[in-house]
Amino acid sequence: MKHVHHPQRLSFGAVLIALVVATAALAQTGQISQVENRGVQKRMALMNINNTALGTLTDMMGGRAFFDKARARAARRSLISATGDIPSVFRKQHTDPLSRARPEVWLHWRDFKDHAKAAQRAARRLDIDSLPDLRQTLPSLISACLQCHRSYRKPM
Ligand code: HEC
Repeated sequence: MKHVHHPQRLSFGAVLIALVVATAALAQTGQISQVENRGVQKRMALMNINNTALGTLTDMMGGRAFFDKARARAARRSLISATGDIPSVFRKQHTDPLSRARPEVWLHWRDFKDHAKAAQRAARRLDIDSLPDLRQTLPSLISACLQCHRSYRKPM
């Protein structure tokens, strides 16, 4: 039996497209190796930990990697811990010519911390029991990453 119109497929396809766009935007990493300020290096390294863990999960969600519960669990743990460390690595206003952090981070520190909290909440809510559970819960984490970037990170 052929299902030409399969609404669930379609919406999942749309989610995948959104994911590809989102993760491409996230993957535009700075040139951390050329950054001289240690504090800026540290916060970029933390963001790269977030990005690696998120990549593990988006690969599973997008079918580029098999769903592996143990790996998914490790990635979730890493995201909970790394999103939790965001306020501490940004607290001091370290600067570097290669940094893309906007000065608004420190002007609106409370709001910035709220964005970090929201990301950590979304990481905690990741359900890695099965691939469908992951598919349902991963998009809100990605949007939490992107929402903070939209306000506090300069585009390339
Ligand atoms: C509370 C705000 C906030 C949240 C939440 C956040 N980020 Fe970031 N992120 C930033 C800021 C600000 C920068 C720019 C740092 C700089 O260039 O000094 C950044 C930079 C990055 C970078 C570039 C690092 C580099 O090497 O230049 C990546 C990749 C990244 N974030 C991924 C993520 C992912 C993935 C998530 C979600 C799991 C996330 N971020 C959540 C604020 C945030």
